[in-house]
This record gives sequence, C-alpha cells and structure tokens, in this order.
Amino acid sequence: MQNISGLAELRAQVDAWRGQGLRIGFVPTMGNLHDGHLALIAQARRSAQKVVASIFINPAQFGPSEDFSRYPRSPEADSERLQAQGCDLLFHPSVQTVYPFGLEARVGIRVPGLDDILEGVHRPGHFDGVATVVARLLGMVQPDVAVFGRKDYQQLQVIRRLVTDLAMPVEVLAGETVREADGLAMSSRNQYLSPEERRQAAELHATLLSMGAARKMGKELNEIEDEARQRLEGAGFVVDYAVLRRSDLAHPAHAGERGLVALAAARLGSTRLIDNLCLVDLPSAAA
Ligand code: PAJ
Repeated sequence: MQNISGLAELRAQVDAWRGQGLRIGFVPTMGNLHDGHLALIAQARRSAQKVVASIFINPAQFGPSEDFSRYPRSPEADSERLQAQGCDLLFHPSVQTVYPFGLEARVGIRVPGLDDILEGVHRPGHFDGVATVVARLLGMVQPDVAVFGRKDYQQLQVIRRLVTDLAMPVEVLAGETVREADGLAMSSRNQYLSPEERRQAAELHATLLSMGAARKMGKELNEIEDEARQRLEGAGFVVDYAVLRRSDLAHPAHAGERGLVALAAARLGSTRLIDNLCLVDLPSAAA
C-alpha cells in the first residue's frame, strides 16, 4: 500500500491508474479504523480495481465544544489494517493541503434543507464542514466510485445531494452498518464509554428495533417516537432525538408510508451516539 500525503503525488498515481483504464474506488475516513470502515474498503474493492482510503480529521466539521482535540488517533494500526484489507493507497493530507488558503478563508458548501434538521440542530455547521471537506477530497482523488456508511444516514443524504447538485462525476454507494454482537453500531466514539455506559449503549439499537416493531403493529407515529424517547431515557440516555422519517428525511405524512427510517441520537455521559435503522430492512417489515 502506498502512503501519500501530498496532492501532486496523489494525482500522479491516480492519473497513472486511470491511464491504464482502471476504475478507482474511494473511502474517506477520519481514521481510528474499525470493522465498519474496513467493510467499506471491501465494498469499494468489489466495484473498483484500485482502492484509495483517506484519513483526515477535519477540523471544519467539529463544533467549538466538540471532541476535535481528543478525537482518537491510531495511525500505525490504521495503516496496518488498511494494508491487510487490500487498500492500494492511503492518502493522509495535512490541514494545509486540504485548506490551502487556511481554514477561515475556505470556500464553503452548504446543503440547505438537510443541514439544519436532526443532527444539524444539535451540531450547527457540522454538515457545512462535512460537505466542504468531502467536495475537496472527491476533487483531489477524483474516484469513479465513493463509499459512505449508512451508519451516518443524514451525512449520506448530504453527500448524495452535494454530488448530484454539483454534477460531480462520481457514483456514491452506501455501506451497511457494522455492529458489535449486542447491536451497538461500531464507532470510533464507543471507546469513550465507561464499562457501565458500554452496557447501556446497546439499548440504542434495541430501541430502533422496537420502533420498527411498533410501526408494524400499526401504532401512531407520535406514540412510537414518545415511547422510544422514554425507553432511551429509562436506560440512562439524554436524548437529542428519536424519530421516524421518510428515507429522504422529510416527515412522513401518514403511518402507512413505506421506506421509513428510524433515527436516534442520544448521550451517555459526555459521549454522543447516533444510529438509525431503515425499517424496510427489517425482515418482517417487507411483508
Ligand atoms: P468517519 O466517522 O471516520 O467515518 C468514515 C466512514 O465510515 C463514513 O462513511 C461512516 O458512515 C462509515 N462508518 C462509520 N461507522 C460505521 C459502521 N459501524 N458501519 C459501517 N460504516 C461505518 O464520517 C466521517 O468519518 C467523516 O464525516 C467524513 C465523511 C470522512 C468527512 O470528514
């Protein structure tokens, strides 16, 4: 696996591959890689001949009181895991490379309608930061296909909108959420949890499953959301939201609507966890 931090070197390699007619897949990350990230690499490998991963902890997507400075970093382990997964190139640019005019003077991208709901309410400016860095990374790597996790469902919608609205020549694929044995979605932030909080954390996924089961029983959407919030609070979470939305994140007009997604964000101590479940994916919901 090649390890590259400079843009010119990256471009030279990608151009050489493209000259050979090879299809290039890309998985952007912030590092501290777990099996969820590696599943995206495997997915990219299935739809491309060369796979590029990036590791860049993007300061522009963290709020002033968020965990940018303590975000977990594990460069050696990340590099080994990517290599073992068959990644061809690791791109790890500096802040200077990604924001050559400086963070303050960066050209920004907003995704109206998606940036101020759900996560956007609790993390103002977060999706501007995500859209802005993903646009740059796609421009730098110029992949044919890029893979993003459904774990960050709203982020995936933001990126799909970005790519379509700016007519970027890249295919966006969604990767399924990889979970621990008790259902907790893998996340770099799980390691902030104390052993007690780690046990409580499994309730997040269990609650999303119960929202799917309740909808199947024909319960009112409001009632399902209220019960989900209560269940999470009962398990010790401080709840930011626990809601049902249409797959485009709009409010569902009626209970019978298909393709709903249950989304929740809740805090255990100082750790904020998010998860979601596409209800159409539930084995019995398809009937
Ligand atoms: P990061 O949190 O490192 O996640 C990188 C990619 O891995 C994202 O597409 C995310 O949705 C996916 N992912 C995370 N946990 C997963 C899991 N348990 N199963 C499957 N996929 C999972 O998301 C970001 O970085 C950043 O916002 C980024 C897109 C890189 C822009 O800075």
